[in-house]
Formats: sequence, structure tokens, C-alpha cells
Amino acid sequence: MNYSLPRGTKDILPDEVAFWHEIEQISRDLFSRYQFSEIRTPIFETTELFSRSIGDLTDIVEKEMYTFLDKGDRSLTLRPEGTAPIVRSYIQHGMFNRQRDQKLYYIGPMFRYERPQAGRFRQFHQIGVEHIGTSSPLSDAEIISLGVHLFDELGLPDLMVSINSVGCPTCRSVIEERIKQFIGDNLKNLCGDCQRRFVEQPLRILDCKKPNCDAYLSGMPDNRSSHCQECRDHFESVLSYLDALGVEFNIDPRLVRGLDYYTRTTFEILSKQLGAQNAICGGGRYDHLVQSLGGPEVPAVGFAFGMERAVMLLKDLVDTKSNGVMVYLLPIGMAQRGKLFILMDALRRAGVSCELGFEDKLKTGLKRANQLGSRFVVIYGEDEAEQNIVLVKDMGSGEQQSLAIEGVLDFFNNV
Ligand code: HAM
Repeated sequence: MNYSLPRGTKDILPDEVAFWHEIEQISRDLFSRYQFSEIRTPIFETTELFSRSIGDLTDIVEKEMYTFLDKGDRSLTLRPEGTAPIVRSYIQHGMFNRQRDQKLYYIGPMFRYERPQAGRFRQFHQIGVEHIGTSSPLSDAEIISLGVHLFDELGLPDLMVSINSVGCPTCRSVIEERIKQFIGDNLKNLCGDCQRRFVEQPLRILDCKKPNCDAYLSGMPDNRSSHCQECRDHFESVLSYLDALGVEFNIDPRLVRGLDYYTRTTFEILSKQLGAQNAICGGGRYDHLVQSLGGPEVPAVGFAFGMERAVMLLKDLVDTKSNGVMVYLLPIGMAQRGKLFILMDALRRAGVSCELGFEDKLKTGLKRANQLGSRFVVIYGEDEAEQNIVLVKDMGSGEQQSLAIEGVLDFFNNV
């Protein structure tokens, strides 16, 4: 029998893993510069946590969750996103008692039963940040500019920030009423999903990407005219701080996002090179989530980006990343292997990355060393064994020198 991957999942093979490490490392370094600390939560949570926070009528909760009963008949769900678990943890550990303001980040797999396509998986990985405890527009601007800064450090080109405000619950009902008025008798011309949303979630209609609905909705007046004064002021401040930080953005009045917990600012960072799944990062403010999950009234803002999508962009820039072997030890003749095997152990313990060659021939050994990107090759054949020396070949310059075996460790400690 042949086994293969479950649909929508992927193996991350060794020649790709270096990109994942790089993304994780650069993210961790930058997050700590911005004073975010890592938090790790379980991969599954109670189902209700997600239905309550993401929203019963969203695609994620309605169609995409991996939900199962455990042997104790509890309904559990593989996490489709990281925000709700982080908020659950914030409340459960009474983090607000020690310090209301918490800056947290997380890295890990998420699960959504979506139709797989380029850049869209059923198991995917997110890196996310959540700043819980502040309603200041400064924190919205800080979060967005952190996203931009991160992708700059990763060297990802051609990105664009799209931003909108979906208002607070008070102005939300005005916005929804206006959407309903605008659509009016034309509802029958929109798709089934839009018709369903019209009743309970009119705001989400704006998100519909089906060409027919999209064309019709593009004529809708900008929702921000329905915002209350506080929401307008908040949004204007966020935009002016972004301007001051030199972050370029486009206002997209239809950016409402697929999770119900957002209030005020929503944003995405998009890449022109990603095709249909062009959002590399999404986030926004969620001022009522902590309270709706049983905690105190604490506002928050955050984002998450998809690692698979970041890797796709990075791979386009550089082909493969090798571990960079420093020294390739090449014994010529079986009798010489043991000596180099022991020398390799000493070198590794001294912090030098190395590998032992089994080619037994100079030419094929050098070829392999080259493939591995080795800086040096240590050659040790019968003649060298007799003289108790090795030949060290610098693969960059092609120069070769002989060294006493006892001096090899010192030599590589000093290059
Ligand atoms: P989201 O927009 O659903 O937001 O996901 C964020 C990012 O995860 C997307 O921009 C995309 O890069 C990646 N992503 C989502 N679904 C998939 C998939 N099926 N395959 C590959 N990549 C995917 C959230 O999850 C929110 N929790 C973000 C947030 C944090 N908002 C506030 N704080």
C-alpha cells in the first residue's frame, strides 16, 4: 500500500527548512526588540471558544473547522487561528491582574478545512502578535508598522498595506442598515452567501469576491461616512501615525475580514506576487473579544501572517539555502576513515560544522564538497597518513596547504 500526505498538507523538506528557520529567527529577534514575549498554547481547544470568538456565521466556523469529540465526549477543535486561544490564556491566567498591557507572540500550525490551492493549505503555519490592553491608535500604527518592518527585514519586495475601519458596535448597526438600503431590491442578483448574510451579517457582504457581487458592491458609498465621531478620530489618528512612520497604505473601504471579532481598524499586507491568495498578513483591532470570552473590558490589536506564503516569496528570491558545511573531511582509502572520523568529532565539539566523505576518490569527493558549499576540504590519503599530515584545500581560492594532524583543530578555530 502507498501512503501519501492528507490533502491540503505538505512536508517541509530539508532544502526548504532553512527558510522557515530564517523567518522564525528574524521574527523572534524583531518581536523582542518591540517587547513582545512568546506564548505557546495547545493545538486544540474547546470548540465553543472558536465559535464564540470567530463567529457562528463565518466560513471558518460554519465550514472549515476540524472538530471532533474526544473519548470523554468533549467537543474539541484544532485551532483555526491563534487570537482566540491567546485571549483565552490571557483571561485564564489572570494576566491582567499583574499587568493589563501584554504584548505576546506565537508561532505554530493552524488548521482550516479549505479548498487547497497555491498558498492555501489545510494545515498551515502562522506567526502572530497580539497587543492586549491598549485602545490607543498608536498601538494600531505600531502593530501595522511592525508587520511592514518584519517583511522589510525578511527582504520581501512589492508588498502593500490595505487598511480600513469597520467601526464599533454602535456605528456598526448604522453601517449595516446602510448596506441593506444600498442593496435593497437587488439582493436577488447577489450570490446565495450574500443573500444569507444580508439578514444576519450584512457587513460580511462587502467581503464577497464573486465577480458579479464584487462588481455590484464596488458602487457602494464608503462606510466611513456612517462612523461615530470616536471611530473617525481613531482611524484618522492611525493613518496620521502611519504617515509619520513613513508606512505607505491604501484605504480599502471593503476590507472587513473573515473573523467577527474585529472592531475599528482592519488591515492586510498583500503581495502582488502571490496570485489569488495574495494576503500574506491580516489583522486588526478587537476591543470586545476579551470581555466576550469572560474577561474584563480590555481592548486589543494584533496580526498574523502565513509562513507558507512568506516562504513562497522568499524562495523566489533565493533558490536553496544550504546549511553551509565549513569543512568536508575526505579520507582516501578505507584505512584513513577512522582517523578523520575522530578528527571530525573534535572539530564539531569545537563548534566547526563538518561532514565526512565516503567517496574514497579525490575528484568525486571534491564535487560533493562543492555541492555542500564547503569552504574547506581536508584530504587524507595513504601518503599523508605516512607523514602524519593532512592537505587542507580552500575551496574559494583553490589553494592547498599541508598541516600536521595535531594542528588541524587550531587551524579551524582561527579561520
Ligand atoms: P487570517 O487573515 O485568517 O487572520 O490569517 C492570517 C494569515 O494567515 C493570512 O493572511 C494568510 O497569510 C495565512 N492563512 C490563513 N489561512 C491560510 C491557509 N488556509 N493556508 C495558508 N495560509 C493561510 C487571523 O487568523 C487572525 N487571527 C489574525 C489576527 C491576529 N487578528 C488579530 N490578531
